Amino acid sequence: MKILGILASHKEHGLNAQMLEHVLDNVDSGVETETIYLENYNITPHKYHEENPVLDELANKLMESDVWVFSAPTYWRECPGLLKNFFDCMRPKFVYFKDNGDTIPGPFKDKHYMSISSCYMSTTENFLTGITDETFKTIDRVMSAAGVIKVGELVLPNTFGMKEIPEKKIKLCKKFGHKISKKQEKDDSTVKRYIQLFFMIAVMALVTMGIQIPLKAIMPMNNFWVSYVSFVVIFFVLLAVILHWVTFVKHRRR
Ligand SMILES: Cc1cc2nc3c(=O)[nH]c(=O)nc-3n(C[C@H](O)[C@H](O)[C@H](O)COP(=O)(O)O)c2cc1C
Repeated sequence: MKILGILASHKEHGLNAQMLEHVLDNVDSGVETETIYLENYNITPHKYHEENPVLDELANKLMESDVWVFSAPTYWRECPGLLKNFFDCMRPKFVYFKDNGDTIPGPFKDKHYMSISSCYMSTTENFLTGITDETFKTIDRVMSAAGVIKVGELVLPNTFGMKEIPEKKIKLCKKFGHKISKKQEKDDSTVKRYIQLFFMIAVMALVTMGIQIPLKAIMPMNNFWVSYVSFVVIFFVLLAVILHWVTFVKHRRR
């Protein structure tokens, strides 16, 4: 079992480097780790009929690892260029192309990854506006195309003037170090999602019917169509709120 840390910060020993180090220092015994600092590599796109030993070397490192840990600060409210360039140049290695130009997961399918990001913005501001979301979204988009499975996220907001990682975050890093050390089987959450959906619908139907009871005072609820239309409208509003909430908390912000 091997875990590869991929550091994509301008600072080789900055906060993202420290977060990554805390994760990798806490992997279970017997698990091998390696960190690559993307700035040390001259990453350029692959040109037809030309060798690209840098991309080959990086692809080999990815292939020989079971879990990848991306650590990338948020720059300009999104993924740092260093990591984006790595993703752009690695595209032909991450995915296979179909005749019609569509892509399917390439040779790294079913490997695992986790993401770390940070920002100057305060914890409350990041919780409310989610500027680190964009960094996570870019990583997720690329990994999803490559068929690589997500293990988790860590975020460090409020980094302005910060020199050392707060104890609470160090504990989380340790937790993730252990978590990613366990060999994970292919993530098939289909059954889990159906169960979640069932309970969501059951609760929403109950709430909708509960809201309909007092409406009897102002609407002729024993009329089938009035009852049906009000049910649909209330259910829709609740569904929209829940979907918004699920999207809102999808990425770790604190
Ligand atoms: C080019 C650049 C752009 C940045 N843009 C943002 C930003 O849009 N919002 C923010 O909160 N912090 C921003 N920051 C602050 C970084 O997120 C912060 O420096 C990072 O948390 C530090 O991580 P490091 O020690 O690993 O470099 C930016 C920093 C740089 C260098």
